[in-house]
Amino acid sequence: MATIVLQQTSLLLMLILATVALDCGQIVQSQRNEIGRTRRLLEAMGGQRSPTECPEDPDFGFPMEKTVLNSNKEDARMAIGFFLEQIQTIFQHNYTQTNWNMTATDLFQETLDQQQIQWQRCSIVRTREQATRHGLHVKRTLKMYFTKLHIFLKEKEYSLCAWDAVRGEIFEVYSVVLSKLLGKL
Ligand SMILES: *[C@@H]1O[C@H](CO)[C@@H](O)[C@H](O)[C@H]1NC(C)=O
Ligand SMILES: *[C@@H]1O[C@H](CO)[C@@H](O)[C@H](O)[C@H]1NC(C)=O
Repeated sequence: MATIVLQQTSLLLMLILATVALDCGQIVQSQRNEIGRTRRLLEAMGGQRSPTECPEDPDFGFPMEKTVLNSNKEDARMAIGFFLEQIQTIFQHNYTQTNWNMTATDLFQETLDQQQIQWQRCSIVRTREQATRHGLHVKRTLKMYFTKLHIFLKEKEYSLCAWDAVRGEIFEVYSVVLSKLLGKL
């Protein structure tokens, strides 16, 4: 009797795990589909601004190699979730001086939120697995990069031009980083 119950339980568990694994596969595709739309929203946020208005184009030096090279599937999944979360956090800072198109800004934050929730759901079964040393290293590296963006904004007192530099930076790295990390899954 106990054996049967145990068998049924493990069968159920296997079914649940299979469903979640399937879900994670779909997330990869839906994340790919979202990349173009998210970038268009980032672009639309700035409206029709002439590029000469803000000549400064700082190099924030995204740590591409450290994030992508040597990352296994677990690391890549974790890195995507963390990357999206950090973008959300940076866009929660004060952008009242930017004059951004609020419709596009709201839609951008909404889609980031949905993307981030998706990855959380995908990693629920994975919480029992230990993050690899490399994964932790990637997380620290990404955190340092986003701290650099935040310090820049703070030093420039969240000015329109500082924000445009950060928005342009995210516009550039968002698709490259995600494409490379999704390629690992
Ligand atoms: C955001 O910045 C503006 C001026 O740049 C300031 O008036 C406002 O109080 C700030 N808002 C917050 C929540 O700090
Ligand atoms: C603001 O962004 C929305 C969404 O991208 C767009 O439909 C609208 O035309 C934009 N408004 C202006 C004034 O550019």
